[in-house]
Amino acid sequence: MISIDNFLNEADEVERHAESALADASDEAELTAARNKYLGRTHGERARIKDLLSQLAPADKPAAGKRYNELQARLEHLLATATTRLAGANAGALSAERRALSADPSMPGRETWHGSLHPVTQVIDEIVSIFRELGFTIALGPEVETEWYNFGALNFPADHPAMDLHDTLYVDQPGMLMRTHTSPVQVRTLQRYAPPVRVLAPGNVYRRDFFDATHAPAFAQIEGLAIDEGVSFADLRATLTTFVRRFYGQEVGVRFGPSYFPFTEPSAQLDIEFDPGDGRGRRWMEILGCGLVHPAVLESAGIDSERYSGWAFGMGAARIAMSRHSIPDIRLLYDSDVRFLEQFAR
Ligand code: PHE
Repeated sequence: MISIDNFLNEADEVERHAESALADASDEAELTAARNKYLGRTHGERARIKDLLSQLAPADKPAAGKRYNELQARLEHLLATATTRLAGANAGALSAERRALSADPSMPGRETWHGSLHPVTQVIDEIVSIFRELGFTIALGPEVETEWYNFGALNFPADHPAMDLHDTLYVDQPGMLMRTHTSPVQVRTLQRYAPPVRVLAPGNVYRRDFFDATHAPAFAQIEGLAIDEGVSFADLRATLTTFVRRFYGQEVGVRFGPSYFPFTEPSAQLDIEFDPGDGRGRRWMEILGCGLVHPAVLESAGIDSERYSGWAFGMGAARIAMSRHSIPDIRLLYDSDVRFLEQFAR
């Protein structure tokens, strides 16, 4: 038996101690220790007070029970307050730590620059893949070429102005030069493979040109060559028209106009009419030179020009890229300025 006064003193004492223990808890461990000591389910002080209830005289029980309920509510409240206080402190400590690391693990990752193909390379790849579907394979030739492959075999007369020192970059070896076009690959291919031949020859070419808005002294060309029995200008028109519509879209206008190259007869230029999207509207633009391969070229390669015929074309890849993206100055394609190139990344 204990008296009600005794019980109330005990309860007050527990409340006072719990109050200071929970309010003073400065970390998780101290909070847990205080919680166990005062609110522990079986060995805590609250449980001990509860047990005391049974030792009271029946007449004292209602007052004691009321006090016990108050104590219980008070302890729960003190625990909740202390828990909230420490959680806030933890969050503060965590964000201070994050600031110290200057990293926020909840932020999305920083995007990195992966690199991309140059717009001229993209154009070459796309053109190559269109012609691959049309049955063409790839052929390559050297950039340092002989005068014969570059000019002689292609039916250039000995005094042609293209061969002038002012137009061609010769190297320090007799009869050698930087190829001025990819057409020498026509002859090299025909020497190696018997017709039927359908090849595409992309590659760099060199001319002694000023570097201005429309000219570069080194640039990429794409050559095409198709040789078989009975091939005519109709095949050239059909194939190049198919290519143009695939590359630029079905709605572009296509026209062939007369031109001249020593290695084709007849020779033509292909113009297309489309809206490059630069605000100046739809208009005609020359995109390539082409023609039926001159019999003299076939003969240079040892091909019987009575039996075989065919057509060829050559185009500047940068010019195609410029028309497609309405790039006003060819030098932009050589500057390697990422701020410019970035817009073509894909
Ligand atoms: N080689 C020519 C040039 O560089 C282009 C061309 C190729 C024309 C094939 C006709 C046939 O201008």
